[in-house]
Parts: sequence; structure tokens; C-alpha cells
Amino acid sequence: MKIGIIGAMELEVAALKQELTQPECREVAGMKFYDGTLADTPVVVVQCGVGKVNAAMCVQILHDVFRVTHIINTGVAGGLNDNLEIGDILISKTAIQHDMNVVPLGYKPGQVPGLDTLAFPADEKMRKDAMESCSKVNPDIHVMEGIVVSGDQFIAEASVKKHLINDFQGDCAEMEGAAIAQAAYLNKLPFVIIRAISDKADHCAQMDYPTFEKQAAHHCAKLVAEFVKTY
Ligand code: ADE
Repeated sequence: MKIGIIGAMELEVAALKQELTQPECREVAGMKFYDGTLADTPVVVVQCGVGKVNAAMCVQILHDVFRVTHIINTGVAGGLNDNLEIGDILISKTAIQHDMNVVPLGYKPGQVPGLDTLAFPADEKMRKDAMESCSKVNPDIHVMEGIVVSGDQFIAEASVKKHLINDFQGDCAEMEGAAIAQAAYLNKLPFVIIRAISDKADHCAQMDYPTFEKQAAHHCAKLVAEFVKTY
């Protein structure tokens, strides 16, 4: 067993990288993969960069080159669900790409033609373990399970936020999770997405994101470090 841990930004993987024992660094496609152990569990920690293409490529490399058996995507997200405040954590039930739109040809919003699923389901055990790890290390932080919606855009407009809630029942919005989910699904790799809320995907998002990104990323890193211990 070997867990691939993906964050889009340096801040999202920095703390985990520091905790690795005897990491070996290897660069593929401009991404630095840190292959080592975290609490005796073999892991590969990588910063994939922003957006769905980077994210999907990263999963394929983790599968083909590093032979990982599980995938975790960690980082920050914009909250869509009113029950999520900045600093809270969302664990994925499913993930869907909100910018995949083949509706004129009869497909549902977000549906990828040729695939037999609409939203990509996270692994049940990884979901449960993530919830338990969160209660253990972040007992004061509100955590919930929900739907991650991903697209190649930063959400900061009321009308777009409304669309993601109404058409996808999204709980949080980010820019990699569903691409990671699709790539994991195609490679039959169990995955879970763990995101802390850095902003509320509204007109304040441009200000809130840089203010709360660090704190939110820290909550996630703590959770992931605990999660890995249980494997
Ligand atoms: N990541 C963090 N906040 C986000 C937002 N508002 N939109 C997209 N990705 C995000």
C-alpha cells in the first residue's frame, strides 16, 4: 500500500513534506514527487499546480510511475453550503466537474460522455477514516461530508455560486478535486478529497482567500497526517 497525497499549491503540501522520513525527490512533468514515509506509511507527496489538467496528469504519474494504491487530494476550497464557515472542513462524498457541459447533446450538466457515472464517488472507507481522523485532531472544527464541484475557474460571483448550488448541489468549489476523482476512477484507485474552507466563493472571496488560506491549509495537513497513521 502506498498513498499519493496531492495538493495544488505549495502551502497545501509544505507541512506534510516536512514530516516525511527519508524522502526522495523525483521530478516528472515539472512536478516534484516526494517519495517517503509518513508515520511508517509509504506515501508520495506532490504539488500538482492549479487546475484540472495538472491534477489529472498528476494522478496518472502517481499510478504509472510511483505505483500508489490510494489517492488523497487535500487543500482549500470556496464554501457553497451555508453550513460551511471559513476554517471548516469538507470530506468528499462525490466530485463532479461543473465546467463539463455537453448538455446540447442530451447529457446532464457535468456528465463526461462515455463514462458510466455522473459524479465520481469517493472510497467509503477513506471517507469514514477521514471523518474520524478529523474529529480526533481537529475536535473544535466543524466537519461534514458533501459534494465537491471542480472547474478551471475561481468562483467569486453570486450568480456562478448560485448555479453551482442549484445545478450540482455543490457544497464546496475548487479547481482540481473532480479531475483527480475522474483519473482515480479510470485507474481504479480509491480516493478521497479533503478540503478546508478558505472563502465562501462570493464577492469577498478575493480578500478572504489570501487571508484564510494558510489557516485552512493547516487544518487539512493535520487531518491528513493523522489519517495516514491509520493505514
Ligand atoms: N479554492 C479556494 N477558494 C476557491 C474558490 N472560491 N473558487 C475556486 N477554487 C477555490
